[in-house]
Amino acid sequence: MASPSQNGSDPPQPVRIAGTGSYVPDRIMTNRELEDLVETSDDWITSRTGIRERRIAAEGELTSHMAAAAARRALEQAGVKGDEVELIIVATITPDTITPATACYVQQELGALRAVAFDVSAACSGFLYALEIARHAIAAGAFRNAVIVGAEKLSAFVNWTDRNTCVLFGDGAGAAVLLPSEDHHGRILSSHLGTDGAQAELLNIPGGGAACPITPDNVEKRLATLAMQGREVFKHAVNAMRRASETAMEKAGLTTGEIALVIPHQANLRIIDAIAERLNLPAEKVFVNLDKYGNTSAAAVAIALDEANRSGRIRTGDRILLVAFGAGLTWASAVVEW
Ligand code: UT7
Repeated sequence: MASPSQNGSDPPQPVRIAGTGSYVPDRIMTNRELEDLVETSDDWITSRTGIRERRIAAEGELTSHMAAAAARRALEQAGVKGDEVELIIVATITPDTITPATACYVQQELGALRAVAFDVSAACSGFLYALEIARHAIAAGAFRNAVIVGAEKLSAFVNWTDRNTCVLFGDGAGAAVLLPSEDHHGRILSSHLGTDGAQAELLNIPGGGAACPITPDNVEKRLATLAMQGREVFKHAVNAMRRASETAMEKAGLTTGEIALVIPHQANLRIIDAIAERLNLPAEKVFVNLDKYGNTSAAAVAIALDEANRSGRIRTGDRILLVAFGAGLTWASAVVEW
């Protein structure tokens, strides 16, 4: 894989995660329900992926609604009011509309009328891309706070007749509030981003953009839905997330033994297990919730971070490693001291 052209150096002003939040839709879709849609089985899905169920947004429930719900919870925990927010970044590949950005709708929902708002498109790595952009923006003094969100309504872009993909994905949102760090709690110690556009074809939504506009024929061919070469993506995912994990730890001056918890992208339990094995991490140090939500792309690490935070899996002073991988190909990692 090509080495990344840009790789964030540590900003001078420390930045902390001051609050987290998440939201998932009420509707649970089990593996058994998928057996009625495509030629699959609960046993295949569970044993090949670890996924048991996923959440599906209601018809009128959009990415922006889930993003705003997650953001509100993160703001409440951070003690920041909606009208005080200065920067909103939404990471998503399932925006409400092609333009304007989903972040603009979130700005309205939060009443964050002073905020600058835009989207980041980096697939499953998007939340950590947003983290990196926002922390540098705060460290540079351009903004006093930021809300970063990973949010997806993947159910609207899944080909429900393709068993290779439709069993994998789910809907939801996770958010974090970033503030300058006065004490050291929640401080982002290091981060690392990478992209390999040469592998763009491995995982994409080919239709719906200018290259393949929406036409009745393209819709008929289901070109505006997720397509993936799963086995190839699997291999890249393991290698890229292992390397990204090592790089972020190295930049933070930490070894695996000094990391209290790893929160990886939630795509496939076999991918997570393979990374844990390569990094010599015991299972209890790896956070997994994909059994409940499937792969929620940009939302996955963000939801997992919030669940780990609110359930007490992360304690003050813990060093945690966040790592993600997705379409692009993209990958990203960060080490945070809680
Ligand atoms: O979030 C971004 C990153 N995404 C990922 O990291 C996903 C990476 N890829 C994966 O997680 C796995 O490759 C999959 C879960 C997508 C697939 O697992 P796999 O072990 O790589 O299976 P495969 O694609 O090699 O397919 C093995 C067999 C095939 O049948 P044949 O050709 O051996 O007869 C597939 O047709 O399993 C079949 N298959 C299924 N069978 C029952 C594929 N999907 C299903 C299914 N139910 N849902």
